[in-house]
Amino acid sequence: MCGIVGYVGSRQAAPIVVNGLNRLAYRGYDSAGLAVIGEQGLALRRSVGKLENLSRLLESNPVFGSIGIGHTRWATHGSVTETNTHPHIDCAGQVVVIQNGIVENYLELKQALVAEGHTFRSQTDTEVIAHLVEKYLCGGADLATAVRHALALLRGANAVVVLATRYPDQIVAARLGNAGGVTVGLGDGEIWVASDLPAILEHTQRVVFLEDREMAVLSRDGAQYLRLDGTPLAKKIETIAWDPVAAARGRYKHFMQKEIYEQPRSLIDALRGRVDFEAAEVRLEGLPFHPDQLRGLGRIHTVACGTAWHAGLLGKYMIESLARLPVEVDYGSEFRYRDPLIQANDLVLAISQSGETVDTLAAMEEARRKGAPTLAIVNAVGSQAARLADGVIYLHAGPEIGVASTKAFTSMLVAQYLLAIYLGQTRGTLGLAERRRLLQQLAELPNLVGQVLADDGPCPELAERYQHCRDFLFLGRGINYPVALEGALKLKEISYIHAEGYPAGEMKHGPIALIDAQMPVVAIVGRDHVREKMLSNIEQVKARGGVVIAVADGEDAEVAAKADHVVPVPQFSPLLAPVLNVLPLQLLAYHVAVRRGCDVDQPRNLAKSVTVE
Ligand code: G6P
Repeated sequence: MCGIVGYVGSRQAAPIVVNGLNRLAYRGYDSAGLAVIGEQGLALRRSVGKLENLSRLLESNPVFGSIGIGHTRWATHGSVTETNTHPHIDCAGQVVVIQNGIVENYLELKQALVAEGHTFRSQTDTEVIAHLVEKYLCGGADLATAVRHALALLRGANAVVVLATRYPDQIVAARLGNAGGVTVGLGDGEIWVASDLPAILEHTQRVVFLEDREMAVLSRDGAQYLRLDGTPLAKKIETIAWDPVAAARGRYKHFMQKEIYEQPRSLIDALRGRVDFEAAEVRLEGLPFHPDQLRGLGRIHTVACGTAWHAGLLGKYMIESLARLPVEVDYGSEFRYRDPLIQANDLVLAISQSGETVDTLAAMEEARRKGAPTLAIVNAVGSQAARLADGVIYLHAGPEIGVASTKAFTSMLVAQYLLAIYLGQTRGTLGLAERRRLLQQLAELPNLVGQVLADDGPCPELAERYQHCRDFLFLGRGINYPVALEGALKLKEISYIHAEGYPAGEMKHGPIALIDAQMPVVAIVGRDHVREKMLSNIEQVKARGGVVIAVADGEDAEVAAKADHVVPVPQFSPLLAPVLNVLPLQLLAYHVAVRRGCDVDQPRNLAKSVTVE
């Protein structure tokens, strides 16, 4: 994810901003820039590549002023060029904007602004914000109001920071949705704003976190907070501990909780640099496979363990449906010993968060021995799986500390969705219009994830009520069956409650014998072709005195009438709906484990990276 740092005070802003950006470099970036307002007016410096390049540029061409904002970009829209690097400016060069997130409707906004006479310089979604702010400033609004009006037009989840020459003492920072944080750091006569705490903590431990649809107007005298509708807001100042572990957890009690909430961001990071939204194409650069080889593929064998195996099961639906290519999914530990039938035109896809899971690695070696090319979807950069594979798609989810995998899982789904579209476009199974539709849905996903995670919904209450149960059953059909498996795994690994995931159609062949009021049944109901079947399964559970917790579209009255509880999730495209459906299951497991006093981040007997057979 990109990093944002802003400063206003009495010192020179540029070194403080660059230093803060360096502290956020761990999040990954491909270019960096800053804007400073000083006596010379507005100065902008941007450069592609490492932050050293920006520092060198500043040495040879310094900027002076005590108010500035900077950004490390990791491309979502538009290639890695200096012109696409943030900050972005308006036509007159008087407004500068940096943004984290995705402006989902930027194409429409851009067209309208161009028609009104605005000239765009970059290919980014962010630049529309600079022109919108310019438009409202020209219309007579003050900076905070202009930003509010501009943000009212955006669809998506965004963190936005703005400077304008007409307001040389103000930084306006705002947050829309849940894709990226905005944290204000309070000092004495100086103030910081950043996307992440590490950029601020060396200066101050007194911070304010902006929530969805809140903004801050920062000046040397302090900060004023308001809602995006313009009403003033009193914000609580929080003091962050210096302990590095506590600092890394930020405002969360556990790493797992933090990682659940990071998902809108980690999903954006998974698609960075890989989608050309204007051409509606997926670009998986660096893969060593020739298009002819991909066109000639006979089959994909996915190998993985644990949560990654569930991700592989979901990827099968995506790849088979979009690229019309058969996919077999195996546990690494089974594949390696079953003498699998692999043809020379097959591809072995290994999925692993750590890239160190011994059974997955052994399965990759088995594939090698049999002459099949390998592709790895991996989170840990430079891990063994990444080194062993012919090609790698990194998740870019950042470190996952909680043993129970959450953000890596959903990133694995996005990575496979991209792979499926990439294969589909190469193999000619997906036309332009279809790709445009699929990629637009992907662009909307992080914001929807943020909406589901806006609060914990009924999960804490459900956890309170059912924490003492000894067993849970999770049911799903079709693409939601692996979601049921993952929900059961999450609960059992961190709360030590026995839980099983089952394809709902198989319930009558065994698990139905277990149903009683003491075993909650979690049913995942999509708005898809198997919805009716899931409704009948819910009825079968109810007819036997069972308790049903349905994860379903909150508007679905039939589900609400049949189930005991509904955990609402927005209705979405069937292939991406699992990303939304798994979120309440992660939260439910988390809240149950907390109530049972379990060690959420380090559950007993489990390891984050399993390097033994
Ligand atoms: C362990 C972890 C799981 C993980 C599995 C596979 O069991 O506890 O969370 O899903 O290993 O790990 P990998 O790093 O290969 O994804």
